Amino acid sequence: MSQILCFCLFLMCYINTVGADDEKFLTEPPDYIRQCQIADKNFLNCSTHSIQQLFDKLNDGIPGLNSIKSFDPFYLNRIRITQGNSNAINLKVELGNVKINGFGHTNVLESMVYPKDYSWKTTFMLPEMKLQGDYSLFGRILLIPLNGHGEVFLEAENMTVIMNSKTRLYEKGGFTFYNVTDCRVDFKIDGLKSYFSNLFNGNKQLEDSTNKFFNDNWRMLADALYNVITQTIEDILLDVLKKIFHYIPANFFISDIPTSKQLYGGSKVTASEPKRPK
Ligand SMILES: *[C@@H]1O[C@H](CO)[C@@H](O)[C@H](O)[C@H]1NC(C)=O
Ligand SMILES: *[C@@H]1O[C@H](CO)[C@@H](O)[C@H](O)[C@H]1NC(C)=O
Ligand SMILES: *[C@@H]1O[C@H](CO)[C@@H](O)[C@H](O)[C@H]1NC(C)=O
Repeated sequence: MSQILCFCLFLMCYINTVGADDEKFLTEPPDYIRQCQIADKNFLNCSTHSIQQLFDKLNDGIPGLNSIKSFDPFYLNRIRITQGNSNAINLKVELGNVKINGFGHTNVLESMVYPKDYSWKTTFMLPEMKLQGDYSLFGRILLIPLNGHGEVFLEAENMTVIMNSKTRLYEKGGFTFYNVTDCRVDFKIDGLKSYFSNLFNGNKQLEDSTNKFFNDNWRMLADALYNVITQTIEDILLDVLKKIFHYIPANFFISDIPTSKQLYGGSKVTASEPKRPK
């Protein structure tokens, strides 16, 4: 009897926190966010520092936001990419059990917010980004035919990322929030070390020489893996940004942000308005 009661209590608690966590949001501005005014001529500088503070805070976790379990390292279950049809690049890649280190040391170089539609252009630098995971790969990289699966290690140095994010403003509890709907990244790097285990089903000699070739020609490898890398970063950032900005009102970042009604006009039905059954 008491066991059943315990189990029921556990279930209730569990359901409560899961349900609540999705909808919870901050109603008081936290000390780790600097508020800026978009009408201010110094906005770009203020916004850049504000987003830097947010990234710094993500490292130890944003209090109350439990849906981001870990930012550095960041874990991804699976990424699947097919890319290219040229001779140099023709590749199907699948990554699994991916662990990425480095987002905790992000330097925010610039955080622009466009007052027209409140989309963002954010430039930041990761001094070191390390990825490890399981890979399977079919196709060609740098003209080398590959068909293997094993473990992959990538280590990118001085990765400068330009991120373009689309948002849609919506209202919740008397605040305006960002719904981050899209995230595209572009990057450049100063170096890429790589290692693929078991590239040729156990042919160690061919594997070693190919790995050496990839490291000697890291720029070409980075180009070949461009879509794999950008999509990995996009998947991470979109997930993290969505969670953060459903949790922290946009007003805490930009005090003079318009409401969704003011921005999109009152007559239009916005995507974020709940649909009522007829
Ligand atoms: C930018 O912001 C920082 C931190 O608030 C401040 O120390 C610095 O003077 C600002 N720079 C300019 C050019 O306003
Ligand atoms: C990375 O950037 C730092 C600081 O700008 C620089 O000292 C270092 O040489 C760069 N690394 C590479 C591989 O270029
Ligand atoms: C955010 O946008 C997505 C579409 O990208 C939509 O499905 C979702 O309902 C929106 N959420 C809110 C709270 O407006």
